[in-house]
Amino acid sequence: MTDTVRILMCAPHHYEVDYAINPWMEGNIHRSSRDLAEAEWNQLYQVLKTYAQIELVEPQPGWPDMVFTANAGLILGDTVVLSRFFHPERQGEEPYFQQWFEAQGYKVHLLPKSLPFEGAGDALMDRGGQWLWAGYGFRSELDSHAYLADWLDVEVLSLRLVDRRFYHLDTCFCPLTDGYLLYYPPAFDTYSNRLIELRVPAEKRIAIAEADAVTFACNSVNIDRVVVVNKASDSLKKSLSERGFSVIETPLTEFLKAGGAAKCLTLKVTETHHQSPQLSTIQSRVIQLEGHLLDSGLVNRVLDTIVSGGGSFQVLNFNLGAQRLDTSAAEVKVSAPDGVVMADIMGQLIDLGAVSGEVSSDAKLAAVTQAGVAEDDFYATTIYPTEISVAGQWIEVQAQRMDGAIAVTHTPTGTVARCKLLRDLQVGESVVIGSEGIRTKRNTTTLKKAATEEFSFMGAGVSSERRVELVVEQIAWELRQIRDRGGKVVVVAGPVVIHTGGSKHLNQLIREGYVHALLGGNAIAVHDIEQSLMGTSLGVDMQRGVSVHGGHRHHLKAINTIRRCGSIANAVEQGVLRSGVMYECVKHNVPFSLAGSIRDDGPLPDTQMNLVEAQAEYARLIEGADLILMLSSMLHSIGVGNMTPAGVKMVCIDINPAVVTKLSDRGSIESIGVVTDVGLFLSLLVQQLNKLTGTYGVS
Ligand code: ARG
Repeated sequence: MTDTVRILMCAPHHYEVDYAINPWMEGNIHRSSRDLAEAEWNQLYQVLKTYAQIELVEPQPGWPDMVFTANAGLILGDTVVLSRFFHPERQGEEPYFQQWFEAQGYKVHLLPKSLPFEGAGDALMDRGGQWLWAGYGFRSELDSHAYLADWLDVEVLSLRLVDRRFYHLDTCFCPLTDGYLLYYPPAFDTYSNRLIELRVPAEKRIAIAEADAVTFACNSVNIDRVVVVNKASDSLKKSLSERGFSVIETPLTEFLKAGGAAKCLTLKVTETHHQSPQLSTIQSRVIQLEGHLLDSGLVNRVLDTIVSGGGSFQVLNFNLGAQRLDTSAAEVKVSAPDGVVMADIMGQLIDLGAVSGEVSSDAKLAAVTQAGVAEDDFYATTIYPTEISVAGQWIEVQAQRMDGAIAVTHTPTGTVARCKLLRDLQVGESVVIGSEGIRTKRNTTTLKKAATEEFSFMGAGVSSERRVELVVEQIAWELRQIRDRGGKVVVVAGPVVIHTGGSKHLNQLIREGYVHALLGGNAIAVHDIEQSLMGTSLGVDMQRGVSVHGGHRHHLKAINTIRRCGSIANAVEQGVLRSGVMYECVKHNVPFSLAGSIRDDGPLPDTQMNLVEAQAEYARLIEGADLILMLSSMLHSIGVGNMTPAGVKMVCIDINPAVVTKLSDRGSIESIGVVTDVGLFLSLLVQQLNKLTGTYGVS
């Protein structure tokens, strides 16, 4: 039909299943028949010969998988990117393929030694658009895609493979003539599926069922309107023929035992890249990154953000610092299929500290026309210090917190930008929209420090019990420093502090001036007061650890008593409440805020049941904090985390690792988590502080 298509194949004279480097090979070692393999391969060869010119590369003994020429490299025009096999079992094939390409006059690019990429097995040109689909996740490394884009001058769309059975892109993905796509969606992660759906219109997508996927229906050779395949179900054959394709089945059972079929056994050497102008919505932007990009893992995060957001990238420049303490700088071209995807990706990149290349652009503003409501594409703030560009000047955003909008007002003394919750926006203000003219500052110096061994325990992360003592030492030292320099420590505490016998330790911290504000809910106060008045916590005797007769009423009696006094402070003043955490707070003028919730009993007169008010009280008490100690309260700790800017140290102690992970996973090295019993933690902390001050024994 067409004589322009040339295909490279390799005869199976040395083919064998000799090792297992994919799930298909497992259990099939030495179970394939050479004769049958030869026969099947010959039949494929004969079929393809009718449609294409077949080239042959000499098979080599000891390299049984060399038959799978799709993995030789990736060809586009007269350029080849030679494969770098992930498994040593196939690395010996590389020089033979390289020789063949060079002998044919191709310009051969070699990837860095430790950067796996498995050629056309993991990289397929779209037959409709001008881009290359590239797979990663099992064999090829995502980082190799940047080289492909650069060397082949092509847009690369990275797809993440998630099913081990479909370890190469060509096992589950097959672009067809006229922009059709045969593929098995479950082999890809959600983002990749979204990317595919964004690029390939629904009427061109042919999603196959698992039954077809496992007989390698996607691993077919497509030449014009012909699809050559190991096997296809009747329904698949029908849907292909409805779209004008004729299917030729040629059994490849012996090769399936090695995890390959028709497409794997071929490499199209006449792959071209039509540079025809095309109407497209594709957008690109150049971003700059600076800092300890490698040590902090920032480059990975940035590239991953782009890919998982549905875009693609090209690293234009990457200057590594020469010395260990030098910073690096990178320039990355970000491409996205349309403006919406681009805006979404850019928003996330800004949060990672990237600056959009168009340095001159100012932040875009939209007037607030309805109080408490922003324009739809408002920029959502993060915990990181942020600046916006207004009339060519970078100005700092005040009251930094996450999940707000940036409200801008022009005053006689200049422009003021402030983080505000949506509900607080006023008519007359403007909000920042889009992603231009915004930058966030990440302290990559501290990230760098955190990455080095000696500082790592104070770096972000979750410490398990083994390291509790080490962390306690550090926190005790920190508390001392803050107290002595007149700094501020805020404690967020849940009722577990009381149940686990932690209150006497917390009392001591308050008495000794280590606590400057207490945040909690109704429960901590109720249980603390119950314990103080009746010696029980939720009816359990705290001395003996047993339930007390009638104890289930104790917490209600405690609430009732305080209600009679009018407030906790009154109860202290009247001599009704004479010990406990709340008592110490009142006695030592430590302000507290108790935020109410739907499940509260009572509540105590002090509990703030207006949640918007409670959030405001919390925010006021957090202001200026140096350290926030979060003691076993998921609800209140997360609430506090949401309103705290980066730069404030947060220590989260909880027996539930999920809470600790959630809190310390702010991408900020200032937050650390300790998974342990909070009572035990507090006792160790007080013990350590006593050691530091020379006071032994808890009073
Ligand atoms: N046994 C080979 C491997 O695991 C099979 C390669 C199949 N090739 C392909 N393009 N999918 O590497």
